[in-house]
Amino acid sequence: MPIATELPAILGGNQAITLDQDEANKWPIISTHDEQAVLDVLRSGDLSLHPIIGELEEAYKERTGRKFAVTHNNGTSAILAGLHAIGIEPFDEVIVPSATWWSSVMPVLHCGGVPVFAELEPTSLGLDPEDVERKITDKTKAIVVVHLFGMPSNMDELVEIAKKYNLKILEDASHAHGATYKGQPIGSFGDVSIFSMQGNKLCPSGEGGILLCDDEILYESAIRLGHYERLLNLESENKYFAATGFGFKFRMAPMAGALAYSQLQKLDERNAKRNKNCEYLSRKLEEFGLETFLSTGETQRVYFEFLVRYDAKKTGLPIIDLANALQSEGALVTAPRYPLLHQQPVFTHGVWSKLARLPATEENPIHTYDPMDLPNTTAGNGCLLKLPSFPSSDTALLDQYAFAFEKVLAHANDIPRTEN
Ligand SMILES: Cc1ncc(COP(=O)(O)O)c(C=O)c1O
Repeated sequence: MPIATELPAILGGNQAITLDQDEANKWPIISTHDEQAVLDVLRSGDLSLHPIIGELEEAYKERTGRKFAVTHNNGTSAILAGLHAIGIEPFDEVIVPSATWWSSVMPVLHCGGVPVFAELEPTSLGLDPEDVERKITDKTKAIVVVHLFGMPSNMDELVEIAKKYNLKILEDASHAHGATYKGQPIGSFGDVSIFSMQGNKLCPSGEGGILLCDDEILYESAIRLGHYERLLNLESENKYFAATGFGFKFRMAPMAGALAYSQLQKLDERNAKRNKNCEYLSRKLEEFGLETFLSTGETQRVYFEFLVRYDAKKTGLPIIDLANALQSEGALVTAPRYPLLHQQPVFTHGVWSKLARLPATEENPIHTYDPMDLPNTTAGNGCLLKLPSFPSSDTALLDQYAFAFEKVLAHANDIPRTEN
């Protein structure tokens, strides 16, 4: 435990964090280059089918080494198109994580699929390969892998399981633009891989997404769902669907595409800054007993979000009271992060089967969801503390954050407890 003589702010001491945080944490960073890129599209009058979209797709293909790329109006629709492309059909089971944004899971229902939640493993908060294997049945068709907060999941084992059981992988790389796993870019592991470019993401477009794959059949299936305008250019029979598509319109707006393309030019530089800052603070927090999910030698993570793991058993101070005390220091920390999906009413109250249009009744459920399932995920999720990811911070602010932790943890016994 750290030794600090100064009192925490919550006990009457001075606030540790006094430096301005608005600029340090401002995201997205919009430059005149971004403004010009968007203006160019706006002034062209070509607001719906501008060639910038093709350039953005080429850039993503190049970065990930994929053969096909299709931009989408958001990451959620790219996931739906991806699940449609890999052929998820009524009653197919899809293994998914519970601690993720709902978009990784809910589109499964709109293919008539059955999400089956599996545990997370503790090192990268990706799907636990052992639990994935336990959850496989003869109905399992696919696995949705999410690189949570920018930490690459354990791809060697997950890919091996997928091969062994002939399952497809949908790789949700929404948090992990620019990350690598054993030297290979994230976004290159799925049968279909997707990125979100929503406004908070590492390559923001406002709203936007992209789907990547190497298989022409998957590519054509994906565009059949939401890109009718591309079907006419195909050689295959899919061109006969050009007059209708398959009922969705998922095209990305070129002004958003222009912003994403411009932001992509800065991605590596900005990731490097976030990494430098988060790694710097992580090393200090590790000294105080927190676990910080630093990149390993083999895996280069990125910091879409900066979460650290806190073990309240080490200090006796509940995480919620730690967060309160840190907030009193001026720290922008919160706990915990994601509401676990398997505990949400849409699953626990049977609404999911109606959305999936599956003939489940209370007497004859196709699958049941127990909020008490996934004890490791639940316990793990409750130990996470979210910090800013410091896209433009200097070390002085990071030192103040470290000092805030140091003071609070040194006085763990005296920090007021919230009553339950
Ligand atoms: C893990 C994950 N997957 C998918 C999405 C969906 O992306 P979008 O918001 O672009 O629809 C998000 C986030 O927003 C996300 O965090």
